[in-house]
This record gives sequence, C-alpha cells and structure tokens, in this order.
Amino acid sequence: MKKVKVFRYLPGSESHWQDYQIEADPEDTILTVLNNLRIQDPTLSFRSSCRSAVCGSCAMVINGKFRLACKTKVGSINRDEIVLSPLPGLKVIKDLIVDLEPFWDAYRKIMPWLVEKPDGENMVITNEVSDLMEKFYVCLLCGSCYAACPEAGVDRPYLGPAPLMEGYRFICDPRDAITDERMKVVGGDEGAWGCDGAFACIDACPWDVAPIEYVAKIRTAATKLRLGFK
Ligand code: SF4
Ligand code: FES
Repeated sequence: MKKVKVFRYLPGSESHWQDYQIEADPEDTILTVLNNLRIQDPTLSFRSSCRSAVCGSCAMVINGKFRLACKTKVGSINRDEIVLSPLPGLKVIKDLIVDLEPFWDAYRKIMPWLVEKPDGENMVITNEVSDLMEKFYVCLLCGSCYAACPEAGVDRPYLGPAPLMEGYRFICDPRDAITDERMKVVGGDEGAWGCDGAFACIDACPWDVAPIEYVAKIRTAATKLRLGFK
C-alpha cells in the first residue's frame, strides 16, 4: 500500500490536501496511480494523453520536483508518501490541472511556424543545422520550465524559457524569411533580456533541454543586430 497526498481544488471552494491509500507496484507510473485513484474517487482531475512522455500534458510537481506523471515510476520516489501538486505560478483550474494559456500565449507570440524564403524549398540544410534543430524537437511544450521560471507566468510580460527557445529555433533555420521580425520579439522587451538567470528551467525540464542556454544566444544575436552586425 502507498500513501498518496494530492492537491485538491474546486473553483469556489478552498484548496486542500487529500490523502489516499492505494495498492501500487514500484514499476507503476504515477499516471497509473492517478488513473487507479480516479476509480476510487471519480472527482479527481488531472491531464494526460500519450502515456509515453511525448505530449507533455501530465507535467506536474511530484514530491517537490517537476516531473511527467507517465515517466515517473513509483519505485523512484524514496519516500513513504507520494505528494502530487499542480505546476506552480499558473492559475489552477481544478486539482492538478492548470491554465496554460499564458504559456501558449507566449508561444504564439514567437510565431512558431516557418515563413519560407522564395528559394527555401531547394535550400541545403547542413548536418550542423540539422543537429541543432534536433535539440529543439525534444521539447514537449509541457510548460514545466515556464511554470518554474520566477520571471514568467500570469501577469508577467516575459515570454519565458521554452517560447524563447522555440523562437530561436526559427531564427536558426536558414529557410526562414522573417528572422528580423522574430528577433524583435525574442530580443525585445518581453524577450531574452527578461531572464534573471534563476536557472530553474534547467531542473524543471523532463528532457534536460536547458532552454536557458538559448537565452544567452538570443542576447548575443540581438546585440549584434543592434550594432549592425549579422
Ligand atoms: S524546455 Fe523542457 S520543460 Fe520547457 S516546455 Fe520544453 S520539455 Fe517542457
Ligand atoms: S501523458 Fe503525455 S507526456 Fe505524460
């Protein structure tokens, strides 16, 4: 038997912690535990979709650490009790479900689509560029880094780690025709200069993406642009 403590919140009522007891195998994931708990208590709410650490929807805080519920095994938690809470810094909609709209809003601002140059179709993508792009594809857009960042979140103008990194991804793409426009966003008032170097995004990322690495690259590119270098 495992003790599980879950953050509960229903709009219009006070938030509280609820304790459950449940049979759990060390090989079970936290998502399996949650699905089993929901059989016990159908009012319990959480997000999940792929069950294979691909969609990012089950991101939450597990025993104080940012984790994906479907990637975290019960046996990896060296405590008697499993403690589950929603991503911080974002409005809780219900229980473990947060409103990710500020994150998506920041993501939309970086224009996450390729605006292809007229000759982009025939452009050769070097291995170097291809390897760089692969690093960006790892990001699940789970929002954990955004939630962990003390500068990003509700009512804050800073775009946050993953949206900045994704903006930089398109700046690095030689096929893209709107690099200057993108630079105005990621290198502008809401962009990379808002990072205070808390490094919280590094610990929060389930795939060790380290989005802060790209903040420094954006700052360098923005400075070069201001000084007239490309
Ligand atoms: S960088 Fe990591 S933590 Fe941030 S959204 Fe992407 S996968 Fe999630
Ligand atoms: S359910 Fe998709 S990442 Fe966990």
